[in-house]
Amino acid sequence: MSTPPLLQRYRSLLDLPQHTQLVTLAEGNTPLIPLPRLAEQWGGGFELYVKYEGLNPTGSFKDRGMTAAISEAVGRGAKTVICASTGNTAASAAAYAARAGLKAVVLIPQGKVAAGKLAGAVAYGAQVIQIQGSFDDALHLVVEICQRHPIALVNSLNPFRLEGQKTAAFEICDVLGSAPDWLCLPVGNAGNITSYWMGFRQYDQARQSGLPRILGVQACGAAPLVLGHPVDHPETVATAIRIGRPARGEQALQAAEESGGRIIAVSDEEILAMQKTLAGEGVWVEPASAAGLAGFAAEVLAGRIQPKGKRVVAICTGHGLKDPDIVVKSMPAPQLLAVDLALLEEAILA
Ligand code: F0G
Repeated sequence: MSTPPLLQRYRSLLDLPQHTQLVTLAEGNTPLIPLPRLAEQWGGGFELYVKYEGLNPTGSFKDRGMTAAISEAVGRGAKTVICASTGNTAASAAAYAARAGLKAVVLIPQGKVAAGKLAGAVAYGAQVIQIQGSFDDALHLVVEICQRHPIALVNSLNPFRLEGQKTAAFEICDVLGSAPDWLCLPVGNAGNITSYWMGFRQYDQARQSGLPRILGVQACGAAPLVLGHPVDHPETVATAIRIGRPARGEQALQAAEESGGRIIAVSDEEILAMQKTLAGEGVWVEPASAAGLAGFAAEVLAGRIQPKGKRVVAICTGHGLKDPDIVVKSMPAPQLLAVDLALLEEAILA
């Protein structure tokens, strides 16, 4: 392993119990990719980066939290872990549980989990159970079952998940030399926005790295934190954030407010357009992952954020390969040719 595992590298800043036994897949250390062309398009004069969390071992930021949650669970003698998931948490829990030799049970909303995530959870050997309900229903069930049986909950209600996910904020400060002016990210169950804010505050206290303003972005059809009330039937093309009752909703609102930022919603059209724009820069992300930058673009274009002179980081939470169907469905089928050089020339040069 080239760099030390996250939990070792940032050990002194992570509140993990003594019994924690490291379970790692070399997560973290993801790149900050500059996007100067896009910054220019939105007025120029500022630095724009995406943190490409899709490059984690199971293709999403969840691995940062899962290394911590599974390391703690295995250290305390847990034999089985469980989570509700829109897909990425499921794949991550399955992988880290496999690594640790634990049984993983994952509950997912029926028919609403992207192919790459479901396949991951199956491949890593989890018991996958579809619920005839939403993510919120599944989360309710797993919380209840953990109260009845000695099964470890690895959703972001588990505080160690947040400890692990703080490391992304530390990495950003380490690479940029200080916190950015704005941090934009998608919000679903609201664990990640909570973790970032905890991480930035902690780093600022320890190393005077400064604090970003946080722009949390939900999808219009699943925007309880923008509407100010739960959404019973959340719906969005960004299935990762199709959540109507975020477990850490209060903390997310607090993070946005304390940081001088806010939580907004963008439409599915804006999300898909930004997914395409990012792919045009060579960064293919799953739809939910494009929401943070889509929200930033909307704020800039409406004049509500003036980015001049600022440093902006958008978190791209999951890889495009997680949800290939969305692209395949929205694109024309690839051109089909006979094995014929003349036809090929014609097709390319036309
Ligand atoms: N982006 C992606 C790709 C996600 O998978 C999630 C959450 C989020 C953003 C939102 O993060 O919940 O901390 O606010 N996915 C969870 C899951 C719910 O089950 O994989 P959050």
